[in-house]
Amino acid sequence: MVNTLDQVTIDLPPARILAVESSCDETAAAVVENGRIIHSNVVASQASLHAQFGGVFPEVASRQHIRTIYSVIDQALKKAHVSLSDMDAIAVTRGPGLPGSLVVGMNAAKGLAIASGLPLVGVNHLEAHLYSAWLYEAGVQPKMEVEFPLMALIVSGGHTELVFMEDHLKYQSLGTTLDDAAGEAFDKVARLLNLEYPGGPSIQKISEGADDEAFQFPRAWLEGSWNFSFSGLKTAVLRETQKIKASRRPLPVPEMAASFQMAVVDVLVEKTIKAADQFSAKHVLVAGGVSANRRLRQEFQTRSKLHVHIPALDLCTDNAAMAGAVGYQRFARGQNDSMDMDVLPNWPIAEL
Ligand SMILES: Nc1ncnc2c1ncn2[C@@H]1O[C@H](COP(=O)(O)OP(=O)(O)OP(=O)(O)O)[C@@H](O)[C@H]1O
Ligand SMILES: [Mg+2]
Repeated sequence: MVNTLDQVTIDLPPARILAVESSCDETAAAVVENGRIIHSNVVASQASLHAQFGGVFPEVASRQHIRTIYSVIDQALKKAHVSLSDMDAIAVTRGPGLPGSLVVGMNAAKGLAIASGLPLVGVNHLEAHLYSAWLYEAGVQPKMEVEFPLMALIVSGGHTELVFMEDHLKYQSLGTTLDDAAGEAFDKVARLLNLEYPGGPSIQKISEGADDEAFQFPRAWLEGSWNFSFSGLKTAVLRETQKIKASRRPLPVPEMAASFQMAVVDVLVEKTIKAADQFSAKHVLVAGGVSANRRLRQEFQTRSKLHVHIPALDLCTDNAAMAGAVGYQRFARGQNDSMDMDVLPNWPIAEL
């Protein structure tokens, strides 16, 4: 273990966690100290395998996890210069996610726990996305000081959740998407525009410098509710592409992508800021794959009066360090799980 120069002040007992994550199409393992300091964070992405299908192919994902999981865990320990015996606990993503993918990480973590005698902690993947905001690499990334109560937005491939967080591990789920998740909308619209999977980074890239008011795509404000909806927006983009194709004009892809991106960003930013104000939040936190979006990050920083925490880019999308961060919070408070723990593919944050 590399000596930590930048020690974290914590009220909880110190602990080193080996974390394993395999909820979707990233096979990942990490070593995290005290829920905040990243000693290693190895991610083997399967994105190129799934690109030919335009989305994640569940069976391909679980088989690829099986091929890579142990070497990824091994790399995480080696990069942190530790062995299993230096760890205090093993954290593993229990759900939500693809059942066949979750089972691979769960079984690998159980095997290591049995072999080493270390306690096992199952963690919620959405909660883990939130806890990515507490992580940093000593000497590389700045340490964020997050203040409660806080308004948190999780925007990922499968979820869009507005969560009021009163304290560590205390959540009040305010709203969710009624149809597509924000990341799912990016992926589907990218496919409509013939852009590569994953759609979010492709849309961001082609939108750079393009007019984002070229198309007035609808914003579903759903006044009086903290829920979201993106299917109407997706249909509006589809209709526009059909209209343009029927008139045999070339698709203005950059302008369509930029206008779509702005419509998503507008709703996410405005509703989160409004909720933060109404619930008297001290800070705002944005996490999940879509929080890597440059425009979303910019708009949050310029429109919010409150401090907005958004994780470093490599911590926005799936990784195991974030599972280690929340695993620490639970383990240090005395929680752990038995060997008959099962995966929970549909585990809402509201049940935590
Ligand atoms: N720069 C970006 N702009 C917009 N979207 C992005 C960007 N980078 C990644 N995404 C989107 O983030 C999603 C992947 O995020 P993440 O890894 O958190 O999702 P997931 O783990 O598949 O879903 P969940 O966390 O809900 O289970 C994809 O839909 C992808 O298109
Ligand atoms: Mg995720």
